[in-house]
Amino acid sequence: MITLQDIRKVYRNGPLEVEALASVNLTIERGEFVAIMGSSGSGKSTLMNIIGCLDVPTSGKYVLDGEEVHALDEVRLSSVRNRKIGFVFQSFNLLGRQTVLHNVELPMMYGGLNRIKRTQRALELLEKVGLGGRVKHKPTELSGGQRQRVAIARALTMDAPILLADEPTGNLDSKSSEEVMELFKNIHQEGTTIILVTHEPDIAAHAERVLWFGDGKLLRETRKGCAAI
Ligand SMILES: Nc1ncnc2c1ncn2[C@@H]1O[C@H](COP(=O)(O)OP(=O)(O)OP(=O)(O)O)[C@@H](O)[C@H]1O
Ligand SMILES: [Mg+2]
Repeated sequence: MITLQDIRKVYRNGPLEVEALASVNLTIERGEFVAIMGSSGSGKSTLMNIIGCLDVPTSGKYVLDGEEVHALDEVRLSSVRNRKIGFVFQSFNLLGRQTVLHNVELPMMYGGLNRIKRTQRALELLEKVGLGGRVKHKPTELSGGQRQRVAIARALTMDAPILLADEPTGNLDSKSSEEVMELFKNIHQEGTTIILVTHEPDIAAHAERVLWFGDGKLLRETRKGCAAI
């Protein structure tokens, strides 16, 4: 489903160059649950941005579902992104003045669904993440774990086959983190491919496969039940 070949990303700020990714080769199959670990600055978010079609590599080939996305312009890239990718971020990225319900409805307003269907779908998803009783609240009236569950509901609205989460439990206590991971597990069991960045081994342990990054390179990987390869 996801194939990265010789992916390199160089950031240029004037005369300064930072090589954030150096020749990454990686395949992720449909339905996998993958965790990405590695020290700060090792290129994890850069990789997630490329996989999520938020950014393009400096060089290399990225094939997503048979489509060569590394060379697409911004318009086509955003079309792929809208159809294929749901995002969850460490800082939730919710609209603070809008209700929980409206936050979840929002992506569907760009997706062309009518108002009644949008509300129906948003309520259904909020029920699924255990927030059926909070739909009229504002995000500021919720706990961190509840906010992240709103963000997860929002990421599911377009039925994207891939869910990307960059340190989704980074701002949560351990109980809320476990609740969020339970939710990811359920979503994975329903067939969604999940790729999650984390610094916490306990969180990575939920994944079937762990990729270890260092200095912009894929250093090694481990699979559940297997020794390091
Ligand atoms: N927009 C940018 N412009 C210039 N350099 C950048 C930019 N984004 C990231 N970098 C650099 O690229 C490298 C990789 O950054 P990245 O954010 O991918 O790391 P990370 O593994 O996600 O780190 P963290 O665990 O701290 O989130 C770092 O050296 C960073 O400073
Ligand atoms: Mg990061």
